[in-house]
Amino acid sequence: MDKLVIEGGVRLKGEVIISGSKNAVLPILAATLMTDEPCVIKGVPNLRDTATMLKILRSLGKSADFDKGTVTVNSTGVKNFIADYKLVSTMRASFCVLGPLLGKFKKAKVSLPGGCAIGLRPVDLHIKGIKALGADIAIESGYVVAQARNLKGCHVYMGGEYGSSVLATDNLMMAAVLAKGKTIIEAAACEPEVVDLAEFLIKMGAKIKGYGTPNIEIEGVKYLGGATHHIIPDRIEAGTFMLASLITNGDIIIKNVLHQHLGALIDKLEESGAFVQKGLNSIRVGAKRKLKPVNTTTLAYPGFPTDMQAQIMSLMAVTPGISVITEKIYPDRFMHIAELNRMGTHIQKEGPHAIVEGVKSLSGAPVMASDLRASACLVLAGLVAKGKTSISRIYHLERGYENLEYKLSKLGAKVWREKE
Ligand code: EPZ
Repeated sequence: MDKLVIEGGVRLKGEVIISGSKNAVLPILAATLMTDEPCVIKGVPNLRDTATMLKILRSLGKSADFDKGTVTVNSTGVKNFIADYKLVSTMRASFCVLGPLLGKFKKAKVSLPGGCAIGLRPVDLHIKGIKALGADIAIESGYVVAQARNLKGCHVYMGGEYGSSVLATDNLMMAAVLAKGKTIIEAAACEPEVVDLAEFLIKMGAKIKGYGTPNIEIEGVKYLGGATHHIIPDRIEAGTFMLASLITNGDIIIKNVLHQHLGALIDKLEESGAFVQKGLNSIRVGAKRKLKPVNTTTLAYPGFPTDMQAQIMSLMAVTPGISVITEKIYPDRFMHIAELNRMGTHIQKEGPHAIVEGVKSLSGAPVMASDLRASACLVLAGLVAKGKTSISRIYHLERGYENLEYKLSKLGAKVWREKE
């Protein structure tokens, strides 16, 4: 197993090109199960999670080729309706094959995702949605077993204790496009990745309105054809590089990014004193003067993304003064605090809040990644720390960041891999 080693203290400069969005491509690949015609998906990031979703499609009988950022899913029919625990347990997003299988074949057996480092992540809203369409659901030996003679359009409220759910909205939307009649999803997730999925489904022949708002309306159709689609850029990867520029007091131009998808983050960074210049599909980020501490609360889109919480914590950890970070989506998503404190940060967890007292400098140390975004936060801390930081379990990073160390090296970072 590899670890990532970073020698901190270099001001990052130059240009970086953002890859396609992990959280958009996964449900879009799952949606290809709903047609017997070929689909071509472009701008696909080469990630562990992409590979896992392709393995799942193949295990269900699809043939899927991945070449230089393009996935071609051929029209071989689905022969198997079971998404296996072995694959689903490695990636929760696999659960979003439930909607497509049920929508298209009126039956599905999908493993329950199991535990996750960032907190309890139930699937009750997913089940509520597909039950509302008329499916019979049973939980057997760790699997959701769903079947229906017909799926019938419905009106369903999908808000949960922590607000809307991205993948539950996706699952329900995909099951509903082939149901009889109209479905209204109330309190739907509005994330750009949900919009990208809806646009792909519409290219396949689906009838969907209101996507990107809390009220989505779907008119069921009999058949979906193949389609060609280009994935949106990854706003979380872009956000991570914006913070890499600020934490190293650098000057980076981020390319292939839509600033409209990063409104809450840009607003927070400008409040802190960052220089953010928005272009058509680029953003230039640098620190025009000493940053000041800001408080952050994570919310569903268009609020501040929980997937940027750990990364902004690294920045606030080296910004003199006190800031409070409140995690409203995954109240326990703070595994990174203990690792950051090993590098000399002063961060205290109080329930769903982290109280961050900014320090002048960090010292490099061996640390351990616990999940995807926590590993990104440790990379950012390593970029500013004195000396060497070595991050183990970087397979977490490879799940969601394409060629991270290559992209960082091109910006001047001293980063390399070593065997554990
Ligand atoms: C998506 O996960 C993203 N993953 C996550 O990104 C992201 O953190 C999350 O949305 C929130 O923005 C993908 O898109 C593949 P949710 P998802 O259902 O859809 C609760 C990353 O780092 N909830 O929107 O699984 C849930 O526990 C990953 O790239 C229920 O209570 O998240 C959470 O508190 C990590 N019941 C809240 O809703 C349900 O049935 C939002 O979760 C479903 C969710």
